[in-house]
Amino acid sequence: MYQFAPVPGQPKAELYEELAQAAAALVAGERDQVANMANLAALIWQFVPQLNWAGFYRMVEGELVLGPFQGKPACIRIPLDRGVCGAAAASGQTQLVADVHAFPGHIVCDAASRSELVVPVVRQGEVLAVIDLDSPEPARFDAEDAAGIERLAKLVATLL
Ligand code: SME
Repeated sequence: MYQFAPVPGQPKAELYEELAQAAAALVAGERDQVANMANLAALIWQFVPQLNWAGFYRMVEGELVLGPFQGKPACIRIPLDRGVCGAAAASGQTQLVADVHAFPGHIVCDAASRSELVVPVVRQGEVLAVIDLDSPEPARFDAEDAAGIERLAKLVATLL
């Protein structure tokens, strides 16, 4: 049984430190990509408050394809010139969107989403996937959230 548990109200730096440690422990010794992404999506969902979606899109033949996630069923394929996820994958840069309604081309998967954080998973300059977090709170994500998920993306880059 896994006993990872976030502490309510803890500072973000601590939360992401614990998330990183839990993530490393969870994937240790396991090579199956789907199993690892599924467990990491569940871990993000458990640790990071105020989310309505958390999970992966994988780069498959030049477009993003839905991977393991938590939240409502989502759009399956995202071209790189569409949405926040497409922007992250096309640029290789983290996308921190305080108001998704103000982002040109934002793709609505869950109408409750107000802000979004998308972090690319990059290995040797190649984008392998993105990690997508959605929140019903406007401006839910800041630089600390981005840094915490970027740390996770570095781990994921060793697994795909
Ligand atoms: N909103 C994303 C699409 C993915 S869902 O939020 C799960 C986007 O604009 O890329």
